[in-house]
Amino acid sequence: MDPKTVETLENTAREMVPAGRGILAADESFGTIAKRFSAAGIGDTEDNRRAYREMLFTTPGVGSYLSGVIMFDETIRQKSSEGKPFPQVLEDQGIIPGIKVDGGAKDLALSPGEKVTEGLDGLRERLSEYRALGARFTKWRAVITIDESTGIPTQRCIDANAHALARYAALCQEQDLVPIVEPEVLIDGTHSIEKSYEVTLNTLHSTFDEIHRQNVDVRGMILKPNMVISGKDAPHQAEVHNVARYTVECLLRTVPAAVPGIAFLSGGQSDLQATAHLNAMNDRARQHGPWPWELSFSYARALQDVPMKTWGGDPSRVEEAQRIFLHRAKMNGAARSGSYTEEMENEAA
Ligand code: 13P
Repeated sequence: MDPKTVETLENTAREMVPAGRGILAADESFGTIAKRFSAAGIGDTEDNRRAYREMLFTTPGVGSYLSGVIMFDETIRQKSSEGKPFPQVLEDQGIIPGIKVDGGAKDLALSPGEKVTEGLDGLRERLSEYRALGARFTKWRAVITIDESTGIPTQRCIDANAHALARYAALCQEQDLVPIVEPEVLIDGTHSIEKSYEVTLNTLHSTFDEIHRQNVDVRGMILKPNMVISGKDAPHQAEVHNVARYTVECLLRTVPAAVPGIAFLSGGQSDLQATAHLNAMNDRARQHGPWPWELSFSYARALQDVPMKTWGGDPSRVEEAQRIFLHRAKMNGAARSGSYTEEMENEAA
C-alpha cells in the first residue's frame, strides 16, 4: 500500500481507540436482535429496531465515552425520528460510524460442531456502498468453539476462519476502511482458563499469520478478541486478576506491537465483569506495562443489556434507559485507564 493510504488508515484506527473511550457494537443481525428483544419483551418490528438504536445513538453526552459505533446493514440506512441518517447522528456526537459486513457463521463442511464465517463474495462492491453511506470502519466476526469431549476446535477450522478474516481485512484496507478483525473463541462450555489461553493463542497466531500473508498492514486495523477466561459452565471461575494476567500475556505473545488497539468483545460476561476485567488489564499496565497497544472495549451485551430491558419498547422510558446506558459507557471509559472503582459504579444507583 502507498504510505498515504497507510497513514489515513492508521489515523482512523487511532481515532477508534482514544483514551477514555471505546466502541459500542450495535450491529445485531435480524436473528440476534429478535432473540434479544424477545428476552426483553420487546416486539421485533422495524420501527422498534430503529427506535431502540435511536435511543442509544442520541444519548446526550455519550460521545465522551464512545469513539465508534458498529451498525448492521438495516441500521446504517435508517434515520432518527427527526429524519437524520444514523451515520450523521453519530458524527454529530463525535462518534465514528462503522458497519458489520460479514455474512454470518455457517456450518463448516465435514467438521461437526464448527463454523466458518461467510461473506467474501461481492464484498468489494458492498464496501464501497457502505463507504458512501458514511462508514469509516468495518467488522467481521469469526467464531471458534471449544468442546474437549469432541476435540474441537480443529486446526482447519481456526485456519479457515483466519484466512477469511485476512481476505476481508485486505478488501477493507483497499478502500480506506479500517477492519475490525474479530476472531472470537466462545465462552460457552466447561473448559478451564488454561484451555481458553491455549485456543486463543493458537487462534491469534493463525490470524496474524494470514494477515501477514494477505499483505494487510497491521497499523491500519483493530483487533477484537475474546478475553482469556474460564468457560461459562466451568466449575472453577478464574479471578479477575488472573483473567487480566492470562489475557495480556496471550496478546503480548501474538499481537504485533504496531497494531494501534485491541477492543474486546464481552462475549456473554455480565456487564460488571466485562468492566472489571478491562479495568484490571489497564491497571496491570502500571506495574508490568506499558502495553504496546491501547486496550479498549467493543461491547454489545455488556453495554446494552440493562438499557434494553429498561427501555422495553416504551417511549416514556427513553430518558431512564439513556441514563443507565451513559453510566455503563462511562464506567467502561474509566476502565480504559484502570481507574474504575466500586464507588463510581454505585454513584449512579
Ligand atoms: P458482545 O460484547 O455481546 O460479545 O458482542 C460483541 C460483538 O460485536 C460480537 O460480534
